[in-house]
Amino acid sequence: MTRINPGGTIGIMGGGQLGRMLALAAAQLGYKCHIYCPEENSPAFQVADQKTVAAYENEVALTEFAQSVDVATYEFENVPSQTAAVVAANTLLRPGAKALAVSQDRLVEKQFLNEAGVETAPYEAFHTAEDLQAAFKKIGRPSVAKTRRFGYDGKGQKLIKTQKDLEVVLDVTNNTPAILEGFVPFDREISVIVARSASGDVAAFPVGENVHTNHILDTTDVPATVSDRVEAKAKVMATKVANALDYVGVVGVEMFVIDSTSQIIVNEIAPRVHNSGHWTMDGAVTSQFEQHIRAICDLPLGNTGALGTVRMKNLLGEDILDLDGYFADPTASVHHYGKHDPRPGRKMGHVNWVKRQD
Ligand SMILES: Nc1ncnc2c1ncn2[C@@H]1O[C@H](COP(=O)(O)OP(=O)(O)O)[C@@H](O)[C@H]1O
Ligand SMILES: [Mg+2]
Repeated sequence: MTRINPGGTIGIMGGGQLGRMLALAAAQLGYKCHIYCPEENSPAFQVADQKTVAAYENEVALTEFAQSVDVATYEFENVPSQTAAVVAANTLLRPGAKALAVSQDRLVEKQFLNEAGVETAPYEAFHTAEDLQAAFKKIGRPSVAKTRRFGYDGKGQKLIKTQKDLEVVLDVTNNTPAILEGFVPFDREISVIVARSASGDVAAFPVGENVHTNHILDTTDVPATVSDRVEAKAKVMATKVANALDYVGVVGVEMFVIDSTSQIIVNEIAPRVHNSGHWTMDGAVTSQFEQHIRAICDLPLGNTGALGTVRMKNLLGEDILDLDGYFADPTASVHHYGKHDPRPGRKMGHVNWVKRQD
């Protein structure tokens, strides 16, 4: 049986805001959640039925966790492969190991995307200074160097505009395996949040348009200011990705759009609920979090329609200390992640504004 009915228990690896919002959505549908996270005081613990505080390498704790749940999922893509294997040996793991393997390594990810028939920026792998010179000859400038693994919010990346920029690349990539990508002269960044259920049904949310500030997502607007053709093509591309991964759950697909040619280039995929899908909590019939729970429990997927024009804004660092303006705004829905330490750039909450279409 692959269907898990309300009353069942969902295991979530990772206890951050995504795990927290997944647990809230699961509770709404009558499921209990068991959160596994190495950090005490994780935001998701506050809203879950059960917690395990243990390292991802602790196979005894992982086995107990897996055996206590009907299905396990994760809120971050850097779940170690051995951790995923231990969990998968003891319960259903959705999405499966393939999605992790592909999204953890930018080189594997690009190869996978191209094989799935989806366009990416041109790229070359490098590790040493010599490889870098050879890669730079092929890709040219401007280009972007990125570590193959563990990059997020622009970390481990270097934009190369001049020969001089090349000199510091190996410092930025920390001498680890990396790729050099051609710089895409995009007009806008969009993302598609798409769900695929255990039964193979697929549903994409309307395309969101994303603005990053200091490499961190600042706002998402729906609808995106793209043509109907680009909107439809972006959804088809995201669906291709979900099908090629044999995916179960919600996946976020980040893309660049070049307006003059209607070209869409996939940047990266996140095998989980995604920050650029937070607008769905107040702005869509079904939220991305509910949709992920539906998909991994093999319930019918929910309606992805938008309720109107929506804006999501992230609250970073000390933004969270001044919520009164948002609380007083009758059009704002405030989401606080329950984190205590408002470090600069840390995702502390978000606000959604929905202008309803009557
Ligand atoms: N090849 C590229 N061309 C142009 N801009 C890029 C390119 N790669 C990354 N960027 C910019 O940097 C941001 C972060 O890069 P991304 O690969 O998504 O890494 P992260 O894992 O940090 O989100 C992108 O959202 C985009 O704004
Ligand atoms: Mg990104």
